[in-house]
Amino acid sequence: MTVATHTTSLFSRNLRKQYPVAVRGEGCWIIDAEGRRYLDASGQAAVISIGHGVQEIGRAMAEQSGKIAFAHTTQFHSEPAEKLAARILAIAPRNFRSGGRVYFTSGGSEATETAIKLARQFFLESKQPSRYRILARRQSYHGSTLGAMSVSGNVARRAPYAPLMPEWGHVAPCFCYHCPFDKTFPECNLACADDLDTFLLGNDPSSVAAFLFEPIVGATLGAAPAVDGYTARIAEICQKHGILLIADEVMTGMGRTGKPFASEHWALEPDIILTGKGIASGYAPLGAVLVTPRIAEAFEKGSAAFMHGFTYQAHPVATAAGNAVFDYLETHELFERVAPAGETLRKALAPLESHPHVGQVRGVGLLQGVEFVKDKATHEPFPREAGIAEKVRRAALDKNVLFYPGQGCVDGVRGDHVLLAPPFIIKPEECGLIADTIQYALDKLFSA
Ligand SMILES: Cc1ncc(COP(=O)(O)O)c(C=O)c1O
Repeated sequence: MTVATHTTSLFSRNLRKQYPVAVRGEGCWIIDAEGRRYLDASGQAAVISIGHGVQEIGRAMAEQSGKIAFAHTTQFHSEPAEKLAARILAIAPRNFRSGGRVYFTSGGSEATETAIKLARQFFLESKQPSRYRILARRQSYHGSTLGAMSVSGNVARRAPYAPLMPEWGHVAPCFCYHCPFDKTFPECNLACADDLDTFLLGNDPSSVAAFLFEPIVGATLGAAPAVDGYTARIAEICQKHGILLIADEVMTGMGRTGKPFASEHWALEPDIILTGKGIASGYAPLGAVLVTPRIAEAFEKGSAAFMHGFTYQAHPVATAAGNAVFDYLETHELFERVAPAGETLRKALAPLESHPHVGQVRGVGLLQGVEFVKDKATHEPFPREAGIAEKVRRAALDKNVLFYPGQGCVDGVRGDHVLLAPPFIIKPEECGLIADTIQYALDKLFSA
């Protein structure tokens, strides 16, 4: 008889792996059942903004739950959902502020699903029924449900489900370090942005409803920001073809990059913004879709009813958590803290840039990525089988530091990076520990 050394009833992320049990969180740290303390250098998956273990969030959730935990959105609105929607619109790009609306979901994937259907129905309401396709970019991630996966360009995450998904069209990413056109910015004249126009011209633009993109590509490319001029050109192309522009800010929204929304780094005014993760800092499952007055009006003047819905949308307790997180961000001036904390992190990481196997340190605010390469001169990645990102993650555990590794940033298969997205309260000494840990991992992997 085989004696199981570990039992779980959970369908784990990896059924061959054993997972420690997280029992407590304190600031940037997670403590497991054995008392081991880990520095959460990636905010789990760019989720945690205010830090772990903030007691007032739980209290606000309990208070709301004690009043009323649930009321179905076909019959009621709730105070916390109303309040949070207004607060988010007030910090959104200008074009959302007078008459924009917010649709709350239980996470990022649901936000993407909602945006896909919103864009489609917007064109039905606007008497343009031929428009339904949502274009997106290669090397992107928009969520794990089938609609969200269809628009995602993350090769590995799509592969098993390819037969189940429609292909509406993917264009080039904006990623200078591995430019898909082998060009250099700015001489490239934004060939990657023009790829959208070329694609539209060759693929029945009258059937396209929207273009969806991450202004800073998180999980797939390891914090690769758009270059200056890119978002403006994309917006121009969308406008020219009469299609909606959707910014996926599930990872970058709610302050992560030093502005409430990353779109604001380029004064971009998308038609729809998706957000999630930091919106409730992990205290509750919450996501949101922000729409401009123009979209809301098209529904108001049309059928008025969005043919979509989730039982748990705009959940009173989840939105109460969102409000309590928002209060905490404001009271502790954490929105303002991200840019300087990001600089501190960047300075701590700077010495790594001269390492022969560190290709690039990139990112904005507290969303940073470190890419590892085989050849620094040519940017050649390691072979996939070398599993460098995963090895860095494992080595970091020797120092009790948690990283979010990623593979495939070059071509969907090769390319290794770790994504860093610590809570906004990260201290300088913790930034130092993150950098030292990457150095330690590199020494462990590459010093003979
Ligand atoms: C840019 C982006 N969009 C969408 C999602 C999906 O969000 P969720 O995992 O909350 O469903 C993610 C998750 O990592 C993301 O990074």
